[in-house]
Amino acid sequence: MKITYHGHSVVSVQTDSHHILIDPFITGNSLCDLDPNTVKADVILLTHGHNDHVGDTVAIAKRTGASIVALNELAVYLGQQGLDAHGMNIGGAYDFDFGRVKFTQAFHSSSYEEEDGTFIYTGMPGGILLTIDDKTIYHVGDTALFSDLKLIGERNDIDLAFVPIGDNFTMGPEDALVACDWINADIVVPVHYNTFPVIEQDPVAFTDKVATGKGMPLKVGESITL
Ligand code: NI
Ligand code: MN
Repeated sequence: MKITYHGHSVVSVQTDSHHILIDPFITGNSLCDLDPNTVKADVILLTHGHNDHVGDTVAIAKRTGASIVALNELAVYLGQQGLDAHGMNIGGAYDFDFGRVKFTQAFHSSSYEEEDGTFIYTGMPGGILLTIDDKTIYHVGDTALFSDLKLIGERNDIDLAFVPIGDNFTMGPEDALVACDWINADIVVPVHYNTFPVIEQDPVAFTDKVATGKGMPLKVGESITL
């Protein structure tokens, strides 16, 4: 499968049979190389309800008919808009036709802000363990450093991890380096930085210091094949 980074926390996974999009924040994401009007999607996975993660989900799913997998309250909210959404919760796993999804905890918040400023409660924030053909990708989501990352690293053989480094809204580089030691992935890709002024970071300075696993500062549009 081919995994591509698209800026902020946007990741696409292309398998032999499915186009999977994770946290497709395209409109308003100055870093993103995708076009919400043409991007392919069979499945959209969402880590939490914040607008910089749900992004263009509704429009993409309406155009493509993609199914959505999200934490329960967010899935219910999207289902109320006529979309096909499968709700899960922290610690639960499910075998889909495209692969296995397990939601991990994340220390963060989760809500969706409507255009009129109304906040919708979207349940807990999470991270996503996506296993396809014996390869496991861990999209850590938005989170602070928390010690159960060590448990997640011990209990899962993680091939590729997407780790936030932006600081301010998530862990910053120093905490993310500790997270990488605990997650113990073969490859680490930093995400959630340089989208906004408050999360400006140097991804190469970060990946140079990654001690456990190989740090790969993917540029927008760059891919890894697993
Ligand atoms: Ni967030
Ligand atoms: Mn975010």
